[in-house]
Amino acid sequence: MPTATTKTNNTIMSDNNQGFSSSFGAIMAAVGSAVGLGNIWRFPYIMGKYGGGAFLLVYLVFVFMIGMVLMMTEFVIGRRSQHTPPKAFLHNRPDKKGWKYLGYLCVFTCLMIISQYVVISGWTTHYIVDSAVGTLSSLQAGDMAQHFNSFVAHPWLPVLFLLIFTIITAFIILGGVQKGIEAVSKILMPVLLVLVLVLCVRSITLPNASIGLKYLFSPDFSKLSGEGILAALGQALFSLSVGMGTMIVYGSYIPANDNIFKTSLMITASDTLIAVLAGVAIFPAVFSFGQEPAGGPGLVFQVLPTVFNSMGNIGTVFAVMFFFLLALAALTSAISLLETIVAWLCESSSLKRSSSTIVVTIAVLAIGALCSMAYGPLKEFLILGDNLFDFVDKLNSIYLPPICAIGTVIFLGWQMKKDDIIDELSNHGTLKVGYFKYYYFLVRFVAPIALLVVLFTGIINSLQ
Ligand code: PHE
Repeated sequence: MPTATTKTNNTIMSDNNQGFSSSFGAIMAAVGSAVGLGNIWRFPYIMGKYGGGAFLLVYLVFVFMIGMVLMMTEFVIGRRSQHTPPKAFLHNRPDKKGWKYLGYLCVFTCLMIISQYVVISGWTTHYIVDSAVGTLSSLQAGDMAQHFNSFVAHPWLPVLFLLIFTIITAFIILGGVQKGIEAVSKILMPVLLVLVLVLCVRSITLPNASIGLKYLFSPDFSKLSGEGILAALGQALFSLSVGMGTMIVYGSYIPANDNIFKTSLMITASDTLIAVLAGVAIFPAVFSFGQEPAGGPGLVFQVLPTVFNSMGNIGTVFAVMFFFLLALAALTSAISLLETIVAWLCESSSLKRSSSTIVVTIAVLAIGALCSMAYGPLKEFLILGDNLFDFVDKLNSIYLPPICAIGTVIFLGWQMKKDDIIDELSNHGTLKVGYFKYYYFLVRFVAPIALLVVLFTGIINSLQ
């Protein structure tokens, strides 16, 4: 019988198998991580709010110059070390033991993000059912908000759906890196693309679709405030899933002969394309039926169901399709977050992958359920004036990811040996890395400064 002592070499590979089997699988898994709730409900809304085309322009600069740079950085740290965050830092800089704390912070950040992520994913899963059985289509426009509010305040229903979503995620992780994550991503990402495209076609062929397209794309620089610029950078990082070690773990699974620069470029471009397509799927429809572009939960769980109802019977089909799309996007993102924590636990304890998955899933369910109940039974339970969900949301948006991201770029830019970085990016000298001096400059100077600005303005704003 295999026991803990049979774990011979203590790298991630020993228990989590051999990493992704192909470049295509690696890209699909990483795009799966990147494309999530952030692309579909957050990006279109903030793009419209902060000046459409003007915001897009700034976003493109940030996502390619800082987001993609961070992704390459995490891939280099992960693939070179073949370890999860704490050991990945130590492997690349064995003499500086303190860096392991940055690794722990990354894992903790993933735990906080997934615990909040599964709450919203659970709502989404419930709305698939609600739209399929006709509950949503039987509601009047004015009752949508009430329906949503009473659902999230229900003592156990949101927790039940969170449980269903999290268990599906855990099953995929139990399948392993190749047979679970990679196999599922290779199927789900193309499905997701088709769903977005179908919804886009429906949306832009509705009457007056051009009003929504104009709202989304026409550049209005007067709406692009300092706040909009910071939102663009924060969104660029969240959307690419960088700044919490997820891409360090996925980096350790990337095939040794993959070109890290090209892979990162493809992931960044795909993630951005899906975000823009989500906007095209949503806003023309919203404006066509005379609705207001709300943000966050209001847009997805109140405005959009009203829009689908206005489409008549066929609206039910589009509603199911939309919530299914959202749930798929959330699933492949949740997989990457859960994988990061499971791979870490597996590597740093004597637990096997299956036991690690069970332990981490229970922790996520417990914290997630508490966050979910912050809208219902735990409404009165406040931490520093916020309910638990909002408290975790603040940690996840203002503090944890920028701190981890700053640590990661400083680590690569100022702690790792330049030759080691070039060696990894060039696949031991077999690829040309003409871009290196630009990358190195961005990672050493531009990224840390930009991230510090995001962190401090976030803190100052939250204290006001
Ligand atoms: N990128 C995901 C999204 O856009 C969120 C995410 C962040 C996933 C960090 C994994 C790690 O929704």
